[in-house]
Amino acid sequence: MAPSSQSPPSSVSARLEDCVFAVRKRVDREPSVGLVLGSGLGDFADSLENLVKIPYRELPHMVASEVPGHAGNLCFGEAAGASVVCMQGRVHLYEGHPVDKVVQGVRTMARLGVRCVLLTNAAGGLDPSWRAGDLMVVTDHLNLTGMSPLIGADDEALGPRFPDLTAAYDPALRSAMHGAAADVGLTLREGVYAGLLGPQYETPAEVRMIRGFGAQAVGMSTVHEVIALRHMGVRVAALSCITNLAAGISAGPLDHADVQATARSRHADLVALLRAWIVRAGAVV
Ligand code: HPA
Repeated sequence: MAPSSQSPPSSVSARLEDCVFAVRKRVDREPSVGLVLGSGLGDFADSLENLVKIPYRELPHMVASEVPGHAGNLCFGEAAGASVVCMQGRVHLYEGHPVDKVVQGVRTMARLGVRCVLLTNAAGGLDPSWRAGDLMVVTDHLNLTGMSPLIGADDEALGPRFPDLTAAYDPALRSAMHGAAADVGLTLREGVYAGLLGPQYETPAEVRMIRGFGAQAVGMSTVHEVIALRHMGVRVAALSCITNLAAGISAGPLDHADVQATARSRHADLVALLRAWIVRAGAVV
């Protein structure tokens, strides 16, 4: 039976089924790989073959970001012979939406049956020897947002109450990323991603603290999506485009326009890397 559009469904999983139902009415695809395309990285979706785009605003319970560089489309297509679904842009917690809206897109991908998801983001680098434009495979995260997508009533239809995050960033998918980088002639950094609420960039004192905590990169996304996906048993990898050195390490002040410009400058390499990763990930999952 079609879910009612009159009154909002009460549970997270009911809202999720509502969204999945709406997607399935629009596309008849069985994506095996999901991609979340962060700041300035969304153009990858336009390189998909047999592309179908659904604007988030046409899907129940999905919200589009107001942030420049985040288009707001769920995109279906093929890349490197695999059926993929991409989030072209994401909404952030700092935009004021509840955390379950922030993860609605990745949960929808999980319900559509993807076996793995690659999350991409723009991040500030914490190691002074790194350079803007470096690419980093995420090995682990620090969730410093004070928020979790799993707060609230337990919803066993989604996953366990206390999910394990020991190997949240799948070791085999990470090595697939290094293999993919070698395939296309790139070298990658590796490190821990610290997720903060934002939207202000960090102070230099905060940057020193976060470095002391053992992170190599800092950003304002990804950690909630990873938690939600691991909760649902989906395998995850993440790639940060180090768009700038973090506050106090960078020679000058930070600016979102520069962040986007640096992400865009790596576009061709990222498209090649993501395609090569999709081929290798297909052999892993
Ligand atoms: N800090 C937080 N988020 C970011 C940064 C940063 O320096 N660069 C891109 N996203």
